[in-house]
Amino acid sequence: MTKLHPVPDTFAAHARIDRAQYETAYAESVKDPAAFWDRIGRRLDWITPYTQVKDVSYDARDLHIRWYYDGELNVSANCLDRHLAARGDKTAIIWEGDDPAESRRVSYRELHAEVCKAANLLTSLGIRKDDRVAIYLPMIPEAAVAMLACTRIGAIHTIVFAGFSPDSLASRIADSQCKLVITADEGLRGKKKVPLKANVDEALKRPNTNSVETVLVVRRTGGAIDMQVPRDRWWHALLADQPATHAPVACEAEHPLFILYTSGSTGTPKGVLHTTGGYLVYASFTHEAVFDLREDDVYWCTADIGWVTGHSYLIYGPLANGATTVMFEGVPNFPDSSRFWQVVDKHKVTLFYTAPTAIRALMREGEDPVRKTSRASLRLLGSVGEPINPEAWEWYYRVVGDSRCPIVDTWWQTETGGILITPLPGATDLKPGSATLPFFGITPQIVDANGAVLEGAAEGNLVLTDSWPGQMRTVYGDHQRFIDTYFRTYPGTYFTGDGARRDEDGYYWITGRVDDVINVSGHRLGTAEVESALVAHPQVAEAAVVGCPHDIKGQGIYAYVTLKTGVEPTDALRKELVAWVRKEIGPIATPDHLQWAPGLPKTRSGKIMRRILRKIAENQPDALGDTSTLADPSVVANLVNERLVR
Ligand code: PRX
Repeated sequence: MTKLHPVPDTFAAHARIDRAQYETAYAESVKDPAAFWDRIGRRLDWITPYTQVKDVSYDARDLHIRWYYDGELNVSANCLDRHLAARGDKTAIIWEGDDPAESRRVSYRELHAEVCKAANLLTSLGIRKDDRVAIYLPMIPEAAVAMLACTRIGAIHTIVFAGFSPDSLASRIADSQCKLVITADEGLRGKKKVPLKANVDEALKRPNTNSVETVLVVRRTGGAIDMQVPRDRWWHALLADQPATHAPVACEAEHPLFILYTSGSTGTPKGVLHTTGGYLVYASFTHEAVFDLREDDVYWCTADIGWVTGHSYLIYGPLANGATTVMFEGVPNFPDSSRFWQVVDKHKVTLFYTAPTAIRALMREGEDPVRKTSRASLRLLGSVGEPINPEAWEWYYRVVGDSRCPIVDTWWQTETGGILITPLPGATDLKPGSATLPFFGITPQIVDANGAVLEGAAEGNLVLTDSWPGQMRTVYGDHQRFIDTYFRTYPGTYFTGDGARRDEDGYYWITGRVDDVINVSGHRLGTAEVESALVAHPQVAEAAVVGCPHDIKGQGIYAYVTLKTGVEPTDALRKELVAWVRKEIGPIATPDHLQWAPGLPKTRSGKIMRRILRKIAENQPDALGDTSTLADPSVVANLVNERLVR
């Protein structure tokens, strides 16, 4: 039996949105979306007010998605300038360094001045509206400054997670043809240095990266790096000479705001493109409603700016709302596993948003590291990025939140720009493990493999039947891929790639990806990416990668590798291959298990049957299902016998 956690009295009485309001506004939002979003869109400052709200067709032959499309606005003006009068001295960013002795507060006025200087700097370097800028920075305030400076001049940023390898960085730069890279000398995480500038140097030796004219380098650690003149320039040296005022550029609502690469089931990561108006309306509105945001809240989202959560709910949503947002450079277990809660106490954090993988890792350390802190400031907890198992939910609720704080389990994706299925803390009774109910304007549907709509309590594939302002608009440079990936599987709907169950109360339970995407510690990886990294090794003939259950990461990476004829499968080679993938993609792609596969299970047409490989990786050799269609059924016995997880 699922335990129900009713809305706490504190929230029921004072929340921004109570149950009756949710029900009324939800009904309105799906009955007349244009009227609903017309009203919500006014929360932003528009340079040219919109008169047109929604123009959407999910028909693959005529696919288009436009919101607020005759309006003009500027994102940085909405995140900064409009707060100056009332909130100029309010803290915009509390920066907490890797070292607990280091922290800093940046007010809205200070952030505005820095962003103006940076916008002038970018302009002086020849960056114009529509140019692409790669940001490869650690979690330091300059990252926020760089993002906002791009938006101020209408340049399109593409942030590459600072944990990604030179190759991953290079492929993103090549795809988006960036003119500028903004990086730091080194990053710092748990005292470990990350050679960011050296990685950029490597990346820029790769093919198709000579669009880059300038590399701006923020000094973070002061470590020794190579500066190649005239390409490489110091951020602080150039910034110092720039004026602290800048007139924000008017951008059309559908002007591209950023590209963020994310993994799909096939091929290389795709550049998810978000646009200006709809995205900011959606990020700011969801941030306010889901977190029940108040003027004096101290809000902390632990996500890195390299992921979509770091875009929407660390920077754009909170700053558009004039909130105080905490940016944390370090890791949860340095100096010790009490760090998160020490930071909560130090900065009196009221709203805390993190990923299930972090909760599970901290849960393993027991209750003491949590109990020895106060956490009295907390009033709401959030979860994002992967399904949260009920045990982790209950621990988060009982130990971290002292059974006092509701948990918002927010389901969404890079593609969706913002939260789509979520509790609202003053409106929704909680069921541990369920993302609960759709946000305003969101119309989920569950369909079977043939696309038949399932009503009532049901389990199947999750689709959305209508658009919302924060939806991605295209895959950068490949609109056909956008249509094919999301709008062809179940015609007339957006296919999420997730499976879901709807229970008798209409609550949604996300069951995980139904495609060849795996979710490792809340980070998305395409099995195809890991496979192509493996086959790039000279001794590998073929590889197949699947997800497997992992206590902390949610899913781990299980790789089956066929070596070239004559190559000996040794432990040394296994280690080498694991290290190879880590180097090719980044540490998050490190395989957890690597099994030698003399042969892979294939159909007669040569397609690898991953269903079978998944079952072996899940240690369920009795659940392989029908293997009679395999070209050579005997390969399965070997894989089962040699399986690495038992
Ligand atoms: O499978 C879902 C899972 O993460 C995927 C999206 O990953 P990404 O684009 O990297 O964005 C992560 C942050 C929004 C989804 O397709 N996912 C995300 N949130 C949840 C979730 N699964 C279950 N419950 C969630 N709350």
